Amino acid sequence: MSAGAAVDAEAFKNALASWATGVTVLTAAHEGLVYGITASSFSTLSIDPLLVLVCIQRGNHLERMVPASGAFAVSLLAHGQEAASNHFAVSGRDPATELDGFETFTDRTGSPILSGAIAHLDCELESLLPGGDHVIAVGRVVGAASDAGKVPLLYFRRGYHGLD
Ligand SMILES: Cc1cc2nc3c(=O)[nH]c(=O)nc-3n(C[C@H](O)[C@H](O)[C@H](O)COP(=O)(O)O)c2cc1C
Repeated sequence: MSAGAAVDAEAFKNALASWATGVTVLTAAHEGLVYGITASSFSTLSIDPLLVLVCIQRGNHLERMVPASGAFAVSLLAHGQEAASNHFAVSGRDPATELDGFETFTDRTGSPILSGAIAHLDCELESLLPGGDHVIAVGRVVGAASDAGKVPLLYFRRGYHGLD
């Protein structure tokens, strides 16, 4: 490739598919309705203060619901929660009074958290930053818990994996 040539979108996606991640379900609640999407763009950001970030595709319901509610929750999926990951990756769903039949609980902010996750982070929205065709939601962590007895769900080369 010559210097300065644009990077092909497929090359970009294939390179990123080589990056192994965990899988999260990002959720928010607003005016009695809840919504969630599968998201792998989760990252820790800061220890003091406690900050995390996640990237939300523009046009998604959460782009509106997260700033409207001022909060979001991140459920880190456990191995065995592939069905939840697949469900919350489907386009064309709408916010509803319950999270599509999945069992949830709340921590501090009222955002729904998926039962059975290996861990969760409950966040107040710190800032919403532009990021191309996504927005970057920075969250101040106000609730966190983990289950040492579970193993994580991993995503690599467009497929799910366990730790082994
Ligand atoms: C493994 C995986 C990771 C994903 N990560 C993100 C992400 O970080 N941010 C995002 O906005 N969408 C991500 N998506 C896509 C969303 O889950 C999907 O676009 C969304 O659920 C569709 O709902 P919508 O029609 O309301 O946008 C991911 C999908 C998969 C399968």
